[in-house]
Amino acid sequence: MTKAISGFSKLTKEEKINWIASNHFSNATEATQIIKKYWNSDTELQKLHDEFIENTITNFYLPLGVAPNFTINDKSYTIPFVVEESSVVAAASKSAKFWDSRGGFKATVLNTEKIGQVHFIYKGDKQKLTTFFATIQPKFFTETESITKNMQKRGGGILDIVLKDKTAELDNYYQLHATFETKDSMGANFINSCLEQFAKTLKEEAQHFDSFTSEEKNITVVMSILSNYVPNCVVRAEVSCKVSDLAEKHIDNPEEFAEKFVQAVRIAEIEPYRAVTHNKGIMNGIDAVVLATGNDFRAVEAGIHAYASRNGQYSSLSHAKIENGIFTFWMDIPLALGTVGGLTSLHPMVKIALEMLGKPSAQELMQVVAVAGLAQNFAALRSLTTTGIQQGHMKMHLMNILNQFQANDDERKKVVKYFEKNTVTHSAVVDYLAEIRK
Ligand code: MEV
Repeated sequence: MTKAISGFSKLTKEEKINWIASNHFSNATEATQIIKKYWNSDTELQKLHDEFIENTITNFYLPLGVAPNFTINDKSYTIPFVVEESSVVAAASKSAKFWDSRGGFKATVLNTEKIGQVHFIYKGDKQKLTTFFATIQPKFFTETESITKNMQKRGGGILDIVLKDKTAELDNYYQLHATFETKDSMGANFINSCLEQFAKTLKEEAQHFDSFTSEEKNITVVMSILSNYVPNCVVRAEVSCKVSDLAEKHIDNPEEFAEKFVQAVRIAEIEPYRAVTHNKGIMNGIDAVVLATGNDFRAVEAGIHAYASRNGQYSSLSHAKIENGIFTFWMDIPLALGTVGGLTSLHPMVKIALEMLGKPSAQELMQVVAVAGLAQNFAALRSLTTTGIQQGHMKMHLMNILNQFQANDDERKKVVKYFEKNTVTHSAVVDYLAEIRK
């Protein structure tokens, strides 16, 4: 077992690597070489990345791929994706092209409200607390003026603060439940700063509220934090066309395809095992664009999955219908995104991704991200209900195996030809490569 180390964070980067290499690797020299191979030779750039987090020893690459030909609300986009899974970008590109000739994607931001809460314990008379809250409510606004000034100039700020009685679920537990508009920023810092000030105001004002007993004056603030559940910060993405217009290479019978597609969505609506995988396919697109644009994919993931369970059972995020010969496929998802602040102005590749998208507002980015998710879902369901998913997947997987075994051009040609007629599995490719290398 490795001995615990104290003061690790104070070591230099070199020292950290030396400690890790000698404590965790059988071949310390090789490990050190690999770790350092991923350093950027531009020292300024490396320093920037080193300082994003703590105890940085190197960089971890993920590919950034692009899917062109997306038409969203009649505007063209090339969407950047940061993702490690093969087929995701190819699937997005295919969907983009498919819908480009059928009217494109439509997207609408339904609302943009964010939420934060001060969770506190109050042991006393509920009516007195309600009166106290009504009396001091304006102070929550005035005492946060220095924090909200700039946000208000941009058209945002605190929308509302309400007192919530949660004592039926947990003894003596109340909340200040606040709603915010944070315009083009994701708003986490702004919201948390406001909430911490609310908490201070709450505690201080309680001390001076005459009708409180000394126990009632003693409010305990447990924590003040934004919520990543944003069911009122929702964007809708949608595609639709005549059922007969769905005809394509793998879709000989568009009526049958549309029916089967709608069935596949219905299954995900009522069957949680399927819903999780169905939504995972949507997240393939969403996370990749969220990452490329420097947004917080963990917050987005947490919020979206909570939303998928909002009716008491985990369910499909997307829906589909056929009405009067029109096929419609859509999805509403909550997305708290920013195009200013955070990594957006710090990470050079994030800046590139945002410029590629035409420097969108947060609302426009919500639309792009939702469309990327819907496009992925369409591509997945289209494959699943026609050729099956493995055909496309294994083609890409084949390339990964060939790269892994450093196949040369001649070997690649032979392998690709052979697997046009044979089933791709990892071992079959490895065996065939070995055979031609004999
Ligand atoms: C794979 O990453 C995603 C899919 O499993 C999604 C789905 O099943 O709908 C193909």
